[in-house]
Amino acid sequence: MSSLHTPVLTQEILHLLGLVPGDSCVDATVDGGGHTEAMVEATRPHGRVLGLDRDPEVLEYARHRFKAEIAAGRVVLVHANFTQISEIAPAHGFHKVAAVLFDLGASSFHFDVAGRGFTFRRDEPLDMRFDPTDRSLPTAADLVNRLDARRLAQIIVRYGEERHARRIAQSIEARQPIRTTSELYAAVEAGLPAAVRWRAARSAARVFQAVRIAVNDELTALKAALPQAWSLLREGGKLAVLSFHSLEDRIVKSFFRQKQEEGTARILTRKPVRPHEFEVAQNPRAASAKLRVCERLG
Ligand SMILES: C[S@@+](CC[C@H](N)C(=O)[O-])C[C@H]1O[C@@H](n2cnc3c(N)ncnc32)[C@H](O)[C@@H]1O
Repeated sequence: MSSLHTPVLTQEILHLLGLVPGDSCVDATVDGGGHTEAMVEATRPHGRVLGLDRDPEVLEYARHRFKAEIAAGRVVLVHANFTQISEIAPAHGFHKVAAVLFDLGASSFHFDVAGRGFTFRRDEPLDMRFDPTDRSLPTAADLVNRLDARRLAQIIVRYGEERHARRIAQSIEARQPIRTTSELYAAVEAGLPAAVRWRAARSAARVFQAVRIAVNDELTALKAALPQAWSLLREGGKLAVLSFHSLEDRIVKSFFRQKQEEGTARILTRKPVRPHEFEVAQNPRAASAKLRVCERLG
């Protein structure tokens, strides 16, 4: 199931991380384990990889995939939010690591299989939590039904960069309660000016992304996790982040700059690395990917 997800920019990540046999490293967003596998291979035969994911279902798949490596003590998988990385890593013997990788957002598993309302392509209940066992998170339905049009518009503009946010938000408010992906899609479509309704799918994609980011509080999690990941790196260790949204990329860029200004980092990607056309042709989800990597100096 999660192997549906094609890892993005794997060769570029491996090249920039420069992992060698025996290294310890962390994959903060394991999902189906595409990048984890590359890290396991690069650090053979004695290196260790710690993998985290907030979604217990994808981790089940990864546990199966890395059964032999887990048994050999080379892979440790933990169901956790990466905001807990600084406690979890030392608890599993990962102290000064060679690399930490974040590959942000949702995966093909979430869009194509999970059945949790990440996409409007199928009619599903509106949930969108990465961790459906986490009762502290609102579901997407809770969120869109609880907020008024003003607050919904702020979320849709900020996290979805949708220009018709205000009208869409009013349409959502007028249709509350909304319980399914089809109902949310219909509210988006009805909120658009008639002339652009034919491309409602584009606006809906932006609205669904915005709601997902808000439900999982994704930007707060990233801001909290970057300094923790940094503190885990040994001298010469690398922090790599693959982001898919301009706000995420801005957070990463400013964190790296701050470290460089403090004199403790060297940015290895002056401009973010983007996938080649042929990668995007084979894997359209790679299209908006931006990779930034930074090395810890001291
Ligand atoms: C794009 S996928 C990673 C794909 C993976 N690198 C691969 O190539 O197979 C992102 C994963 O991050 C997880 N995730 C999102 N936010 C998280 C968080 N705050 N803590 C831990 N995992 C998170 C999601 O559940 C999802 O499985």
